[in-house]
Order: sequence, then C-alpha cells, then structure tokens
Amino acid sequence: MKVLVTGGAGYIGSHACVALLEAGHDIVVLDNFANSCMTSLDRVKQITGEDFPVVEGDVNHHRVLDSLFNSHDIDAVMHFAGYKAVGESCEKPLLYYRNNVAGTLSLCEAMQKHQVALLIFSSSATVYGDPPTVPIKEDFPLTATNPYGRSKLMVEEILRDLVSAEQLTGSGAWQIALMRYFNPVGAHPSGLIGEDPNGIPNNLLPYISQVAIGRLPALSVFGSDYPTIDGTGIRDYLHVMDLAEGHVRALDYLAQGKSTSGCHTWNLGTGKGYSVLEMIRAFESASGKTVSFKMAPRRAGDIAACWADTSKAENELGWTASRGLSEMMEDSWRWQLGNPQGYRS
Ligand code: WQD
Repeated sequence: MKVLVTGGAGYIGSHACVALLEAGHDIVVLDNFANSCMTSLDRVKQITGEDFPVVEGDVNHHRVLDSLFNSHDIDAVMHFAGYKAVGESCEKPLLYYRNNVAGTLSLCEAMQKHQVALLIFSSSATVYGDPPTVPIKEDFPLTATNPYGRSKLMVEEILRDLVSAEQLTGSGAWQIALMRYFNPVGAHPSGLIGEDPNGIPNNLLPYISQVAIGRLPALSVFGSDYPTIDGTGIRDYLHVMDLAEGHVRALDYLAQGKSTSGCHTWNLGTGKGYSVLEMIRAFESASGKTVSFKMAPRRAGDIAACWADTSKAENELGWTASRGLSEMMEDSWRWQLGNPQGYRS
C-alpha cells in the first residue's frame, strides 16, 4: 500500500517509516519540520535502501494536503504530526488544540475529499488519566488532566463520531485505528535514528541519556514517596521499533476489512512496568556509565503507576512487544553515543 506518514521525520514517525518500508509498503512523508529535521529521513533511506517523496508542509494547510493527495495515490494515512509535551501544553493550550485537533480535522477533511478512508492515529495512554487499577484495558474510563491529553481525547472522540455518522447513513467507509502508546523509548538498532528532543528533555529516558553522555549534570527523580516498589513512578516502557511494528499490524488489520466496526482501539505497551530507579540501573548497566541523580518533589500531574493490558492487540493484531529492557537501553545508548547532539551532531 502507499501510506502517507504525517510527522514522518519525528521520533515515532521515522521509526514507523522504517517499519513500513521494511514491510514492503511505499510511503510519502509530510512534515513541517517544526520539531524534526530532514536528516532523520535521509537516515531512514540509508537504513532501508529505499527512496520516497518528502513534502514539507503543515496538516493545517488544505492546499498542501490537496496538492499531496492529487500528486500521490494514497491508500492510507498514519498520522503522527502533533505536539506532545505535557508541560508545554499547559503553557500554550491554543498551540496544542490548533496543531493536534484542528490539524487532524483538516487531514480528515482532505482524506474524505480524496476518498482515502484508512487512518491510523497516534493516540496516547494519557487519555486514561489516573487509572482506577492497573493493568489498563482499552475500555477503561477516559479523562484528561492537561491540554495535551485533552487534545488526544478530543481527536479520539471526533474520529469515533466520524465512524458513527457513517454507520447511521450506511456509507461506512472509514477504517480507523486509535493507537494508545504507553512510554516509547529506545532507537533503531543501527543507531542512525532516535529521540532528539528540542531543549531540555521532558521525558525520562532522553534525560537519563543526556546525563550519561555529559550534556546534563544530574537527573531529578520526581517523587520517591509513591506507593510503588521503591517509591518512584512506574511506567510501561516499550521499544520504539515494537511500537512501529504495531502500527504496521494495525494497518494490515484495517486493510483486510476484518470487521464492520470502523473504529478500533489498541494499547501499545509491554504489559510490564519499571520504576524510575529500575530504569536508571538498567541504563547504567547497558551504557557502563554512572547516571547522577537526586531525589526531588513529585511532578505536578504525574501518576504513581501505569502499565498496559496488552491482550487486545495480541488477540486481534497478533502483536506483542518483543524487545526487552536491556535492548531498549542498549539501542538508546548506541543512538546517543553516535549522536551526542542529536541530529545536530
Ligand atoms: C516517566 C517517569 C516521571 C522525567 C509522558 C506523556 C505521555 C507520553 C510519554 C506522548 C515518571 C519520571 C521523568 C524526569 C523523572 N508522551 N521522570 N525525572 O509522564 O509517563 O508520559 O511521556 O504520548 O503522553 O505524558 O513520561 O518520561 O515524562 O516520565 O523522575 O526528569 O519518569 O515522574 O514517573 P510520562 P516521562
């Protein structure tokens, strides 16, 4: 199939491009490079030995989308373009609703106009808020505690309404997958592509990695009094290549038109949680480096523990995460070691 990958130059998007190409699909990438650079796509081509068109533009711009759909015979869309920093979303909510929500509306209007009905959406486990219990199932209550999470939840509701409307009119064409990511980490084993946050990393692993390479002095561990094994926060970290391959499985599932319901939701996690201290120790073991850290107060909005029930993706997609913690750490370190300043190295 020919797949439009929006945000394809980003961390998740670039790894999805590799997985799609390696699965034999063709791709077209649309990216505005606000949070990424062309280098990552050059490296995707280097890794796969495949070439593909890259369109610089914004999903909010109808003319860009019309031109792209007119120029390329797109069969499906994987939509990664969006902002994803929780803290930034609290400071700049309009930016997040414009980019994440309005951008998706614009994309869906263009898809409808050009009769492209297969959509894989990059959602997030953030839509579960602070879950009543763990592991988390797809039918758990949904809520949001920040504009980033709310933008993901709004898009999910919009996409569910799209499918419901079609079921009412009997014109059911939309086939939509809502992929709820837990905590993607790591990098392609080549070390050529990886996570390259702008400025000081918000997320745990890139922060640890930059302490290990000497770019940052020490990690602040946000909270040591949670009701967890060692008092620090627990999350379900999954290898970004496992995540990418889960998207390809979802695409194949939708393309086969396996069920009448047009909107499907899958958790993408490992089903196992690790604490912050366990992550520090695992990274030190993989890198041979000491990671300096200090205990700090809890971060506003954080929850104690979060990990996925992965049975739905396993049963319906035949997908499970296959890469373990040491592989996540080794691949992450290989990327950081080879790219001390990220893509600007
Ligand atoms: C993980 C753990 C922190 C940084 C966020 C988004 C989520 C998704 C993944 C997009 C927590 C602790 C972190 C640090 C720390 N993104 N931590 N010191 O908050 O689970 O999820 O990123 O979809 O939507 O909400 O990930 O990596 O920020 O935090 O102690 O400097 O590490 O308290 O326990 P999080 P994270």
